[in-house]
Amino acid sequence: MGIASLKGRDLLAISDLTPEEMTDLLQLAADLKAGKLAPRCDKVLGLLFSKASTRTRVSFSVAMYQLGGQVLDLNPSQTQVGRGEPLQDTARVLDRYLDIVAIRTYRQEDLQTFADYVQIPVINALTDLEHPCQILADLQTIQACFGQITGLTITYLGDGNNVAHSLLLAGAMMGMNVRMATPDGFQPAPEIVALARKLAAPGTKITLTDDPQAAAEGAHILYTDVWASMGQEDLADARIPLFQPYQVNQALLQQADPQAIVLHCLPAHRGEEITEAVLEGPQSRVWDQAENRLHAQKALLVSLLGLL
Ligand code: CP
Ligand code: NVA
Repeated sequence: MGIASLKGRDLLAISDLTPEEMTDLLQLAADLKAGKLAPRCDKVLGLLFSKASTRTRVSFSVAMYQLGGQVLDLNPSQTQVGRGEPLQDTARVLDRYLDIVAIRTYRQEDLQTFADYVQIPVINALTDLEHPCQILADLQTIQACFGQITGLTITYLGDGNNVAHSLLLAGAMMGMNVRMATPDGFQPAPEIVALARKLAAPGTKITLTDDPQAAAEGAHILYTDVWASMGQEDLADARIPLFQPYQVNQALLQQADPQAIVLHCLPAHRGEEITEAVLEGPQSRVWDQAENRLHAQKALLVSLLGLL
């Protein structure tokens, strides 16, 4: 195990990290949570968010404040970005003011364009393709609950998009058996599946299925996300009957390992992808998972800024 120094690097996708770097980051996050380390900085983090956010915005902000740094909220509607200033121009200017930037946007290509024009670290705070920051907190939660990650079986149920993509990749890289149960037409993107198979730790099993019961059988973790992501709200009603069999409810949880935990990145739609009883039930770890966003995001800032 080493010191998680990723100074100057970007986190545009979870596969930007090696499994060893992920392990080091998770240890750093756990040490920060336990109060074993108290790194300090006087840096400035910019948040460029084109979509709503509670957890990502607040966890990054609080993490930066606790480190002694500052945060600038650069909502595109309040900057010239919203009036059409080219991303390349915005990027080059912000590069000269900020020390690090977290971006939440739609297209992964826009995130990449921004990163291509700056020297400072760029963090993916959610795109339509990936949500790597979320998955660091998820892995931290799994490690804390089970004392291990490798060898566990995680089952994701629902839409095979951003959160599912990062989970599939990270899970496979860390040696988890990953089962993705999605309705037909909502499987993870083929290029993500191919990358997950390529990067998977030896012995890891990746299963894609449309059978939620089989996918949940004996799993250690059941994980779900909303059925209609931000930007897809007008499709939500039409999706409900398609996704209903993938709801995480008591009956599905009965199929899992008796010690199984339930995770959800939040926000949750009770009665859709997860029932109230499961979300608030004894096997749910969603509030610890949400708390870990703070510690995992702080670890990421410490590492990318080279504060250790
Ligand atoms: N899980 C997550 O990223 O939440 P927010 O959309 O509230 O940031
Ligand atoms: N899939 C969801 C995740 C939100 C954190 C979305 O993109 O809206």
